[in-house]
Amino acid sequence: MSSCLHITDYRPFDQKNPFLAPIIVNRELYKGPRSCMHIEIDIRNSKLRYEAGDHVAIYPQNDTKLVERIGQLLNANLDTVFILKNLDEDSSKKHPFPCPTTYRTALTYYLDITSTPRTHVLKEIAEYCSDEKEKELLKTMTMPTEEGKASYSEWIINNCRSIVHVLEDLPSCKPPIDHLIEFLHKLQPRYYSISSSPKFYPDSVHITAVVVEYETKTSRINKGVATSWLKEHKQVIADQPAPIVPIFIRKSQFRLPSKPQTPVIMIGPGTGLAPFRGFLQERHHMLEQQNKPLGDTILYFGCRKRSQDFLYEQELNDYLEKKVITNLYLAFSRDQEKKVYVTHLLKQNMEETWKIIGEQNGHIYICGDARTMAREVKEIFLETIEKYGNKTRKEAEDFLKRMESQKRYSADVWS
Ligand SMILES: Cc1cc2nc3c(=O)[nH]c(=O)nc-3n(C[C@H](O)[C@H](O)[C@H](O)COP(=O)(O)OP(=O)(O)OC[C@H]3O[C@@H](n4cnc5c(N)ncnc54)[C@H](O)[C@@H]3O)c2cc1C
Ligand SMILES: NC(=O)c1ccc[n+]([C@@H]2O[C@H](COP(=O)([O-])OP(=O)(O)OC[C@H]3O[C@@H](n4cnc5c(N)ncnc54)[C@H](OP(=O)(O)O)[C@@H]3O)[C@@H](O)[C@H]2O)c1
Repeated sequence: MSSCLHITDYRPFDQKNPFLAPIIVNRELYKGPRSCMHIEIDIRNSKLRYEAGDHVAIYPQNDTKLVERIGQLLNANLDTVFILKNLDEDSSKKHPFPCPTTYRTALTYYLDITSTPRTHVLKEIAEYCSDEKEKELLKTMTMPTEEGKASYSEWIINNCRSIVHVLEDLPSCKPPIDHLIEFLHKLQPRYYSISSSPKFYPDSVHITAVVVEYETKTSRINKGVATSWLKEHKQVIADQPAPIVPIFIRKSQFRLPSKPQTPVIMIGPGTGLAPFRGFLQERHHMLEQQNKPLGDTILYFGCRKRSQDFLYEQELNDYLEKKVITNLYLAFSRDQEKKVYVTHLLKQNMEETWKIIGEQNGHIYICGDARTMAREVKEIFLETIEKYGNKTRKEAEDFLKRMESQKRYSADVWS
């Protein structure tokens, strides 16, 4: 007797062995100029498990046009097969990525060709400029002087130039392709906060991803690797096989309190709403199962315009009606002359916030922009604790630290 062992029966899927997952839904959430995708990924045949608050990672592919452009700029035959040995002798890996392979495959799947190159890459390729002015510019940018740093900052960072743009704008720079490949970083998976709960969707993970696309100062349109690939190549088309994406799931510490009666405050402007959609499904499930009232569930959401980027508006209104959400605070920043942000609303509601965290042992969750929003929100919580908890700044800081160590103050932020 023999039996057929399916691959999912003996290999757990993880970062090194991603699951090739079918996408079953990919729909637009925004109206207007920007795009945000609601994507549902089928995990039925994977044995993957997740909790609301976890992250899903996606391995993307680079844009074929950019890969071809590198071949063209360097006069290279992209179908050439090569082997790259790991220069780091301490590494357990003989090759930095699966080899032998072709330049096309390496540039499409394994190497980062869209980030701004570091100075050591510029130093290496400077040697291959036949034009002295171009060589000089590259060399200057690698110097640790004020002038060097300023020119790197302006020419590379402020102009968002990738390696492709550098090669385009310095036409005499022709490094051999195998040399360039040695210095490029590996293409990294992109993480997304899962926007569903397994209580409602045990067989799929949902993501809420805004498509990255912007114009640079050199008048180029830069497109985010993963989000553009998902938008342009991973649409679900009736009667056609489901598009496939390599994924794995990363556990997080971002978790709801186990008791449904514990009140929560969630602050998630923009795509920061993503994990809270999962949390709300979870609270909804608790409410239906227990038939007991939930603790206060307070959500702060903000977007640019109510008519364009109000994510999951209908779902949020339904939750409000069912009392899964008790208070919904909305900030539409561009619907009036003066900007209104979630932070402004939090400032107005300090007394309510203190009741939740100071008197009812509630939990706080923040998700989204790490650069300014999360910092400003933290500052408002400190002010709230000072003012309504009658504490000094030091005592307020200790209070918040204690909340963090008790997992009652959690942030899931990115920049
Ligand atoms: C834990 C975690 C959770 C996340 N959850 C979500 C989520 O739920 N939803 C979501 O949409 N994203 C989320 N992200 C961000 C996500 O991982 C990706 O970074 C994002 O989708 C962009 O990936 P990309 O490959 O499309 O763009 P990339 O090719 O990686 O390009 C992005 C880069 O482009 C640059 N850039 C972007 N916009 C501009 C601009 N206007 N001007 C100049 N430069 C710019 C920045 O350097 C940025 O890092 C999360 C990140 C982390 C770490
Ligand atoms: N790495 C990446 O490529 C990547 C990808 C996705 C998101 N992100 C980051 O994640 C964040 C969320 O992105 P998104 O596109 O989902 O959001 P978004 O639509 O840009 O912003 C959501 C809302 O937050 C407002 N806002 C801006 N600054 C704020 C602040 N300091 N405090 C509170 N609200 C503020 C915005 O107002 P205004 O815009 O009107 O000022 C808007 O109303 C962005 O800041 C972005 O940096 C990064």
